[in-house]
Amino acid sequence: MNNESKIGIVGSGAMGAGIAQVAAMAGHAVVVYDNNMQALQRAEKSLEATLKKLEDKGKIDSAAEIFSRFRFSDQMADFAGCALIIEAIVEKLEVKKAVFAELEKIVDEVCVLATNTSSLSVTSIAAACQKPDRVIGLHFFNPAPLMALVEVIPALQTNGARTAEMKSLMLQWKKIPVLTKDTPGFIVNRLARPFYGEALRIYEEGIADMATIDWAMTELGGFRMGPFTLMDYIGHDVNYVVTETVFQSFFFDPRYKPSFSQKRLLEAGWLGRKSGRGFYSYQEGAEMPQPEKNTELGHRIYNRILAMLINEAVDALHLNIASAEDLDLAMTKGVNYPKGLLQWCEEIGAASVLQTLDALYSDYHEDRYRASVLLRKMAAGRS
Ligand SMILES: NC(=O)c1ccc[n+]([C@@H]2O[C@H](COP(=O)([O-])OP(=O)(O)OC[C@H]3O[C@@H](n4cnc5c(N)ncnc54)[C@H](O)[C@@H]3O)[C@@H](O)[C@H]2O)c1
Repeated sequence: MNNESKIGIVGSGAMGAGIAQVAAMAGHAVVVYDNNMQALQRAEKSLEATLKKLEDKGKIDSAAEIFSRFRFSDQMADFAGCALIIEAIVEKLEVKKAVFAELEKIVDEVCVLATNTSSLSVTSIAAACQKPDRVIGLHFFNPAPLMALVEVIPALQTNGARTAEMKSLMLQWKKIPVLTKDTPGFIVNRLARPFYGEALRIYEEGIADMATIDWAMTELGGFRMGPFTLMDYIGHDVNYVVTETVFQSFFFDPRYKPSFSQKRLLEAGWLGRKSGRGFYSYQEGAEMPQPEKNTELGHRIYNRILAMLINEAVDALHLNIASAEDLDLAMTKGVNYPKGLLQWCEEIGAASVLQTLDALYSDYHEDRYRASVLLRKMAAGRS
């Protein structure tokens, strides 16, 4: 596959439009299809405006030239001749399966069919196809033109040559591809769960308020945003639903248990920044609560959340979800963590992380705080 290959994008929402921009900027002709004409027109306008801005800033030579590579269509038949189609429609398995079955009737035998799903099984989407070996997951992050990471997820049925081809195409698109197994949340959405879940637990137990937890994670941990600020930013309709999906997909493993505090926000329609209120209020004149800048408490919070994050990364390594290098790249490039979690483990020392987890386990006697067997081996110098 090279930049002469025609690329198709199904769904012209936030992700579809962003991926279409990446492909066009890499030199491809891009067909953008949506079954909603208004969404398609919105994407066309916003892509034109974005490219113009990039031209004004001197980041591209000609917005018009790149824009001319797009074709916006409400006819799936226009995908004929595409070498790769990336689907970014609504996150519903049955709808995605129906679209993939339709796509196969239009494209030729060698066209690769990719899904940008965040939480569904790529294997079950592939199973809807006559040629499931051409189906793969390409999980971009929002906003796709700015976030370098792409999780490449072969389904059980995917031909290995297709996986290699997609990895090299992502490099051509100046992305950082990481290879991950088709398991719930892939890398980023799995490893990041404790950042939210453990913060919520600490808050619900009244150990600290949200402003203090956010302060501990940014000031002492070096994260760009604290968990409550970040959840409000992502939106509880997205963040809570990902947590719930991951929890169910992991057969209700208590490590991923959702929180009632967050569920109630969702029920109230307090979705975060976008609705003016979430954990914090974003109304005009609203006062932000101030943290209790108690360093001892802050370190306790930070050590607890970080130990849970590291344990998640070590367990993913233990279960061969991805290589150590890709697990660390995913968190630094996909969610801007200050360090990869495995590197962080090495710096703090596995024994110290294990001590934090074992102390939690001893207090709670909950399976949620079980340490990965690999962490135990690392702490004992046996890995
Ligand atoms: N938003 C994110 O942060 C993010 C990040 C990574 C992956 N994803 C995944 O990407 C996908 C799209 O997410 P989004 O945020 O861009 O959604 P979105 O709601 O912004 O856009 C979805 C688009 O798909 C169109 N659509 C729906 N059903 C269709 C169909 N049957 N045929 C053609 N078009 C159809 C809609 O009209 C809409 O324009 C989802 O699978 C989501 O899980 C989202």
